[in-house]
Amino acid sequence: MMQELKRKIDTKEAKIGIIGAGYVGLPLAVAFAEEGFYVFAIDKDQEKVEHLQKGKSYIEDIPQEEVKKVVEEGLLLPTVSYDVIDEVDVAIITVPTPLTRYREPNLSFIEEAAEGIAERLHSPMLISLESTTYPGTTEEKLLPLFQKRGLKVGKDFFLVFSPERINPGDAQHPLREIPKIVGGITPQCGEVAYSLYSKIIKKVVIVSSAKTAEMIKLFENAFRYVNIAYVNEMSIVCKKLGIDIWEVIEGAKTKGFGYIPFYPGPGVGGHCIPIDPHYLRWHLKGLGHNELLLEIADAINMEMPNYVLGMATDILGEMGKALNGSNILILGVAYKKDISDKRESPALRLMELLIEKKANVFYSDPHIPKLEPKDFPSQKPALPHLESQELDEETLSRADLVILATDHSCFDYQWIADNCDYILDTRNAFKGVKNCRAKIYKL
Ligand SMILES: NC(=O)c1ccc[n+]([C@@H]2O[C@H](COP(=O)([O-])OP(=O)(O)OC[C@H]3O[C@@H](n4cnc5c(N)ncnc54)[C@H](O)[C@@H]3O)[C@@H](O)[C@H]2O)c1
Repeated sequence: MMQELKRKIDTKEAKIGIIGAGYVGLPLAVAFAEEGFYVFAIDKDQEKVEHLQKGKSYIEDIPQEEVKKVVEEGLLLPTVSYDVIDEVDVAIITVPTPLTRYREPNLSFIEEAAEGIAERLHSPMLISLESTTYPGTTEEKLLPLFQKRGLKVGKDFFLVFSPERINPGDAQHPLREIPKIVGGITPQCGEVAYSLYSKIIKKVVIVSSAKTAEMIKLFENAFRYVNIAYVNEMSIVCKKLGIDIWEVIEGAKTKGFGYIPFYPGPGVGGHCIPIDPHYLRWHLKGLGHNELLLEIADAINMEMPNYVLGMATDILGEMGKALNGSNILILGVAYKKDISDKRESPALRLMELLIEKKANVFYSDPHIPKLEPKDFPSQKPALPHLESQELDEETLSRADLVILATDHSCFDYQWIADNCDYILDTRNAFKGVKNCRAKIYKL
């Protein structure tokens, strides 16, 4: 069975089903289709499927032409139906793993996808879970579902965890260049997954278990979370000491070893960094271990929008103004530069806080045309519907204070600083600006 599946993969006869065609699933589906595999992109979002069927991309890193080409060639087959799993040899799960209201793991998307596969499991088949989750999920949640069908893992079907490591908006690290970790339930599972992923990724690294692979992903993201918290806290410390944190970072970078730069900001956003550490903490809590470092990091990072709010209050105070009634323009609301993903964006939390204080908040972000109450963290229905404002002289002149929350490359920083009076820069984006009209305050 294993040799038969490997042969199908090696000859590209194997058909692949990717469940969840989002930021992770779509690039993966396109990469396999470009390699000559038949790929079903299975997504329960009818709108996304219709877009793909028309050859349109909704993800900035995947150019329209790439999607169009593989759809026209009949290699990328978008669908809302799980029935295609009957004919696939490989199923890859790339659905979301968010948190519940109480900031606990929400595995319902993984469970739904896994049940959809289990109902149609046949032999031989490879199943790879790529969604980030706590150590043990693949073995404890997925494996029993599949075994119920009477098939044997490592013999009749093959199950692995293989974390996704893409970095949206980062052209320097394309999917094919990012080494892929694979952890199988058995060594045979890892071997089959190795054959598959090495068709599209230069370096595939097999680790000893699915659990280890799950931990590697959380370990990497928790590392970022803790270091971002460290630099966020140091930015507050430096402010108290009258030292420029950005100059400190540049200075530290000159060492060349033993130091990796991280940068402060208005908080932490996206579907990974602020969420994944909670998967680990929650799991450890269940085992009776109270993890402290991530808890502290979380407290620091979550406080940053409040800290920026405090800075904005002080700046307006210097002008003799209050937040209540002031016009605040937020530049950039995506969670990081040059992308259109607003999930968990700290800019949205900051806007919410400013609105609570009765400031008149408006924003400009060419990547995010509109915001609805459900986009904000509290999702209160009373929150406004907002549209991104054209960034022109009129928009800038309306603002008592401009807060740069996300440093998109499309912003002309010199021009902005020449056309407004007060700027609070949370990303050091105005560093190259000279002799401008605005008074610029930095984090
Ligand atoms: N976005 C990133 O940069 C990134 C990077 C590495 C890892 N990850 C991880 O990858 C996973 C996916 O993240 P994403 O950013 O691609 O999410 P996403 O929301 O962009 O995409 C998920 C897709 O799955 C679809 N979906 C949800 N439930 C489904 C179901 N039961 N059946 C079929 N389709 C379903 C949604 O409609 C959506 O299109 C998460 O676990 C995330 O933590 C994300």
